[in-house]
Formats: sequence, C-alpha cells, structure tokens
Amino acid sequence: MSDQPSQTELDALLEQAVRRHGVGRDALIPILSEVNKSIGYIPAEAFGKIRRRLNTPQEGLFLADSHVFAVASFYQMLSLQPTGAHVIRYCESAPCHVVGARQVLEAIQDELGILPGETTRDREWSLIPTSCIGVCGVGPVFLIDQDLYGNVTPDRVHEILDRYR
Ligand code: FES
Repeated sequence: MSDQPSQTELDALLEQAVRRHGVGRDALIPILSEVNKSIGYIPAEAFGKIRRRLNTPQEGLFLADSHVFAVASFYQMLSLQPTGAHVIRYCESAPCHVVGARQVLEAIQDELGILPGETTRDREWSLIPTSCIGVCGVGPVFLIDQDLYGNVTPDRVHEILDRYR
C-alpha cells in the first residue's frame, strides 16, 4: 500500500502496532517502522496520532509531534512521502562512490527515467539516496525493498530490476 490511508485504516494500523510494541518510549521506532512497512511511508497525520497514543499517564508527556517527526526524518529507512511499489535505496557515501556508485546510479536513472528522490509515473519505483548501509566491502551497493545487492555494475542494473517487474 502506498496510497493515502483513510483515518480509520490508520487508526486500526496504529492500534495493531501498539498491541505488538506497547506504548513505552522504546515503542516509537518499532511503531514508525510498522506504519512505514504497511503503508509504504509515514503520513503526516500519523505523527499526532502516535504522539497521543504514546503519551500515557504511565509514561508521562515525553513526546511532541516535532519529536516524532524528527525521529522519522532521521532514519533513512523510513519515508515521509508516498513511494512506489518498489523502493531502491542506493548508497551515496564515499567508499561506494569511489568504486563506481555514480555509474550505477546513472544506469538506474536511465532505466527508470527518474532522478534521486523521484517516483516513476506508474508508481512502481522510487529512487532514494542513503548514506552508508554498512557493507562497504561489496560496494557499489543498493537495496531494493529489503533485498541487498552488492558489487553492482551498470550492466547488471537492467537484469536486477527485471526481477521485480
Ligand atoms: S559506503 Fe556504501 S555501504 Fe558503506
């Protein structure tokens, strides 16, 4: 799902996430991750809902909307905008850059006809830059959804993307 959810759908999703992760301070990131995974991004109206749900008498008032937003913005695996059915996160940090990440990025851009930060018109693909994801030894690397690809060369891009079509 990556369409705008109804309020009812969002409320139900949050209740399900709260049942699974609780309402303690540690629940914030798991709940954000669950919303992101279910919808494909975290809608703006989710911030207030999550804040109200987690600010319980037991926990006190420890969250503001801005805090929830700041946490969601910080984690690059979380998206604040609707994304395509498949999300490519390519590493743009220096170690990958020096072994050819730019050429791989250009091949992805040519294949999909979009620039970093964009989603294809058919809403199938989003291309999102990220910093080091910790596997520098096999750079250049990118993730498609949860799948990691390393040692990617430009001529492998078409074949890899075809697996998701
Ligand atoms: S620099 Fe790309 S994975 Fe570390």
